[in-house]
Amino acid sequence: FPETVNGTTTLSARAATESMLKGKAGRVLGYREGVLGPTIRVSSGTDVSLRFQNNLTEKTNIHWHGLLVPAAMDGHPTQMVAAGQSFTYSFRLNQAATMAWYHPHPHEKTAKQVHQGLAGLFIVETPAEKALGLPSGAYELPLVIQDKRLDATGTPTYAPTMNDVMMGYMGETVTVNGVAGALHNVATRFYRLRIVNGSNGRLYNLALSNDSPFWLIGTDGGLLAAPESVTSLLLAPGERADLLVDFSKATVGTEVFLRSNPFGGASAQGRQGFNILRFVVNRTEAEPFRLPASLGTAPTLSAGAATQTRTFNIGVAMSGMNMGAMKGMHTINGKVYSMNRVDEQVKLGATEIWEFDNSAGDEPHPMHLHGTFFQVLSRTGGRNALTATEKGLKDTVLVMPGERVRILTQFNTPGLFVFHCHNLEHEDDGMMLNYSVS
Ligand code: C2O
Ligand code: CU
Ligand code: CU
Repeated sequence: FPETVNGTTTLSARAATESMLKGKAGRVLGYREGVLGPTIRVSSGTDVSLRFQNNLTEKTNIHWHGLLVPAAMDGHPTQMVAAGQSFTYSFRLNQAATMAWYHPHPHEKTAKQVHQGLAGLFIVETPAEKALGLPSGAYELPLVIQDKRLDATGTPTYAPTMNDVMMGYMGETVTVNGVAGALHNVATRFYRLRIVNGSNGRLYNLALSNDSPFWLIGTDGGLLAAPESVTSLLLAPGERADLLVDFSKATVGTEVFLRSNPFGGASAQGRQGFNILRFVVNRTEAEPFRLPASLGTAPTLSAGAATQTRTFNIGVAMSGMNMGAMKGMHTINGKVYSMNRVDEQVKLGATEIWEFDNSAGDEPHPMHLHGTFFQVLSRTGGRNALTATEKGLKDTVLVMPGERVRILTQFNTPGLFVFHCHNLEHEDDGMMLNYSVS
């Protein structure tokens, strides 16, 4: 596990040598020595001041995905830190307990920098969450799941072909916290798995290898109102899942994998099943924890309060496209991202419905808004229903081919933000727009 630090640390983006695959020590990027970054853990309400030193040979910045921060601290693509320069991100958090994450956001370079290793976790705590007595310490596992394409030296290589830009840059090596073939010994207890899908383009249909149910207790914006029992859970790039897994009845010696099951659909990745993380039950311990009947408060915005509905066409069929065009195949309302163009103007405090229409598209698009959390109102076409994670507040919502998804949010932070597809190849290809709140 990455080390845990408080809200006044220094992060420095740099290259280092680390082995993600046994026996091979490749070149990676990280916010410390090695791949990824430390896990930042703060209480909501405290002042955060994070000095960022860019020791790369190119510009980068940090976006706090899932934190409600002022626009000037959000890591917008116009707010870059040049090679060799530093910047201090400071903000006071005031939000529900959740696990966010941080990663770079340079226009057209996000995918490459994330794939090479730049990402980290950010945990926000509150007294209300602490009072629930959820598994903590050794029983709380913050996990970044990523697939990597490693060359013979174990270095993540980023050289997307046309096909990779369409499908997302898939890797043959699945890593957990930067480690391939990860193993974790567990006791006969409940464990809290706090997962972010930090992959560029891969979806994971999370399940346990023994097909046992597990509990979803939280999502992007925090805890659900009550635990949801599930046997599988589709998690798209950018999304988080807060899970409880019960090993308390397992016998010592039992082996259980967290895995990804096939989820169907037309794509090659939908047919793949593979293991992600191996758990071995290696000791007996008494389990004092009891699953709480209720956890948080359900989202409360009412669709009737919406003063405007905006529709975004995100679904252009790729199969018929001219493969000669190198850039800009992925668009929103026919537009390719332009850093200095304001695409949508929103009134500060307004409640709105945004609809993402992928009904004519043939690729999954996890749509992500900066600057706010939202409720998912409806999904028609495709899966035609909301999922367990969509009972809570979200910042990223998966819109599968054929689907139309409507979300509801109130825009309470002024300034310039982006919204985009969190398939990072799509994002870098231009599937992003600016919106301004004032
Ligand atoms: Cu996690 Cu704009 O991104
Ligand atoms: Cu974000
Ligand atoms: Cu997309």
